[in-house]
This record gives sequence, C-alpha cells and structure tokens, in this order.
Amino acid sequence: MTRRFRFPDGFLWGAATSAYQIEGSPLADGAGPSIWQRFAHTPGMMADGDTGDVACDHYRRYKDDVRLMRALGLQSYRFSVNWSRVLPEGTGRVNPKGLDFYSRLVDELLEHGIAPNVTLFHWDLPAALDDRGGWLNRDSAHWFADYATTMFRALDDRVPQWSTLNEPWVVVDGGYLRGALAPGHRNLYEAPIVAHNLMRASGAGIEAYRAHGRHAIGVVFNIEPKYPASDSAEDLAATRRAHAYMNLQFADPALLGSYPPELREVYGAAWPDVPADDFRLTRQPVDFVGLNYYTRAVVRHDADALPLRAAPVYQPHRTHTETGWEVYEQGLVDMLTGFRQRYGNLPLYITENGAAFYDPPVADGEVLPDPLRTDYLRRHLQAAHRAIEAGVDLRGYYAWSLLDNLEWSLGYAKRFGLYHVDFATQKRTPKASAKLYARVIASHGEALGEP
Ligand code: BGC
Repeated sequence: MTRRFRFPDGFLWGAATSAYQIEGSPLADGAGPSIWQRFAHTPGMMADGDTGDVACDHYRRYKDDVRLMRALGLQSYRFSVNWSRVLPEGTGRVNPKGLDFYSRLVDELLEHGIAPNVTLFHWDLPAALDDRGGWLNRDSAHWFADYATTMFRALDDRVPQWSTLNEPWVVVDGGYLRGALAPGHRNLYEAPIVAHNLMRASGAGIEAYRAHGRHAIGVVFNIEPKYPASDSAEDLAATRRAHAYMNLQFADPALLGSYPPELREVYGAAWPDVPADDFRLTRQPVDFVGLNYYTRAVVRHDADALPLRAAPVYQPHRTHTETGWEVYEQGLVDMLTGFRQRYGNLPLYITENGAAFYDPPVADGEVLPDPLRTDYLRRHLQAAHRAIEAGVDLRGYYAWSLLDNLEWSLGYAKRFGLYHVDFATQKRTPKASAKLYARVIASHGEALGEP
C-alpha cells in the first residue's frame, strides 16, 4: 500500500527562493539598485512599509541556510541571481564581489551534495536599465543575453540547471498593467510590448547558452488553470481569454513561435505588430520547462473587468490560503496534462508550489505546527504523482519556499516557508510541513501514503 506514491528514480526534490525576497543587503559590496529596491522605498507601495533591506539576511547567512536544506534532504535548490549585484549598471562593468557571492553559494551547495538550479531573472531588473526603458526597450534582449553570458561563464562549470525568466506573466500583469509590483506602471499599451520583449530576452539567453553552456536551460512559467463558471457561450469565451492571457501568452511564443488569437481580443487597440522574424528568437529549443502552480480560477464573463472582460468566481465551500487562493490540487494535474497536450512531452519540473497560511508564534525548541500548509503540501505532492501516472514527464518538484520571506508588495506577513523565520532575530524554526517534506524525500514519496 505505501508503495502507492513512490516517485521515479532520479526524481529531483528541491525548494525554491528568489534573490530580493531573501537576500537582504541589496546594495552591499558594490551592487547597484534594482527596480525592487526603488519600488520598496517608494512610500505607499509595500504593506506595512516592508522592504527587502534585511529580508532573511541570506546574503550573510547563506551557509546556515544551506545546512537547513541539507537537514531536509534537498537534492536541488532553486534560487535567483540579483542582476544588479553582478552588473551594477545592468550592462558593461562586472562587480566581482557580487559575482563572488553566487560563486560561494554554489560551492557551498555542492559541498553539501545539493545541485544548484539558477534562475537568471526573478523580477529584480537593474534600476539603471529601467532608466533606459526597461523591458519596453527592444535592446533588453541583448542586455539580458550579455548578463546571462557573464553568469554562464562564471558558473556553468558547477551549475547543472538554469532558467532564463521566472513567471514573465507577473512582470507584465503586476509590473506594467496593474502597477501593484515594480516598476509600478499601469499601462495597457505597454503590457504586450513588455511580454514580447521578455520572451525575446528569454530566447536570446537560451541562444547564448548554446554557445557558452553545456548543461540544461529552460524557462519558468506560472500556470493557473481556468475553468468556466457555466457552459454559456459568454463564460466559455471569457475563460478562453483568461487562459490565453495568463497561460499561453508566454509559453506559445517560446514553444510554438506564435501568439494565441484571443490576445487580440484582450488587448484590442493596444495589440502591437511584431516582426515575424522575432519568433525565430523567442522559439529557441529548451531542455525543460519549469511550471509554478499555486491555485486555479473559475471564470465568468464580466464586461467591466477590463481588459479581459472576465472575472474570477469565489468558491465558498473550499479552503483558501492567506493570499486568498483556493486550495485545488486537481489543478496541478490538469496543468501538467494540459501543458503536455498543447506542447508535447517535454521534460517538466514543478519549480514552485506552496501556500501562505497564518502560523502561530514559535514556542522555543519546537517544531511549529502548520496543519494547513502540511495538508496543502501532501495533497499537491500526491497530485504530482497522479500526473506522472498519467504519463507526464515530470522530473522534479520544488517547494515554495524554503524560508518565510518578503512576499513582494504584501510584505513579511504572508508566510510561505517550510522554515519559520523570526524577522526580529533571524531565527529559523522548522514547521511540521518541513518534517513531512523531509520524510517524503527520504522515502521517495512513500511517506505520502501515511495516514
Ligand atoms: C513567485 C514568488 C512568490 C510566490 C507566491 C510566485 O508567483 O515566483 O516569488 O513569492 O509566487 O506568491
């Protein structure tokens, strides 16, 4: 009976973080400011006035944090590089001390038997590049490829797995359309241009990797399956638009070399003409795709919810996380099988999956009980196993996140960590979910069959 959830040999067990969310010391040792540094220091942008100035102090405590990973039994650790630590002006001059931090982190991981999985861009664009138009500037593809090449040259001898971008949709929707995230623009006309340039940059990064790297590179998308609230023609069309906007807008140019027609309906007059030749760049062969899964959406037509004319329908009888997301593990299976259906049988990783829930105060020396997060983790790992049984080539799973951290403009109050962080003392305490995850890893998944 317990063998029911055994994962294939070689399945990679990991956890994920990102630079601005955990590192702290954003300007240390010659680093330049990023757009997140500026955004967080703009009054009114962040919950409780929180910033990434200290965060988890991982920049200085990374060795201790690698020990926590080791205690979990992690085989891989997914982290991102803060571009402006390495290239303070975004292009040109390399800051050796910034590069050295990532080199030391990689060595520390390898010494503990943990494979580094590096994401080159997790939203913290160098501010100096924002001053040159950021992702609106077509040159951004070249800036990114040059930065990526610097990283490949420095670390590819020790890094087996790379991703170009994390969740370009969030950059477009949060950063350029709705303004809740850096750089805080609210402009429908900018959004599709930024989306396109992000995928040109990703392609240029992959192309650079073929010249300078010898392991594996991919890209990471967030996928949120969309289900129609009814089978009315209006709801079905709204669901198709929401799906195209969030789930196809980036994967299609990367993997099919085209855009879905629904995007024209979404953007209307803001839809740009893009040179057909650009798809040669966006559609570079990838070694794998990383998919981040948190929740699903049930969608209905709503003429006032622009630009999509689609609105989510709250599901009253289901569990919701602290960020208001429905717990719906079947969505993970649907995401993976749907992705395979549209794009073929690519090697896939779940590069993020996790949940924010309220955690009680830590009592000394204890494991912090977090029943809802533990249940979320168990359900989603079981779902991942079902997807493998359904034939998906799923190669690994990364829990989001290793540590409680800065949940972007929502601040430190939304806790996603397997380890609790006391932000006043920087003390880390394992939660029950961390203990479950360690048992799952040690048993190749069989612990998921425990009552
Ligand atoms: C991002 C993370 C974020 C997490 C939870 C993902 O969208 O990649 O940076 O903290 O979801 O919101």
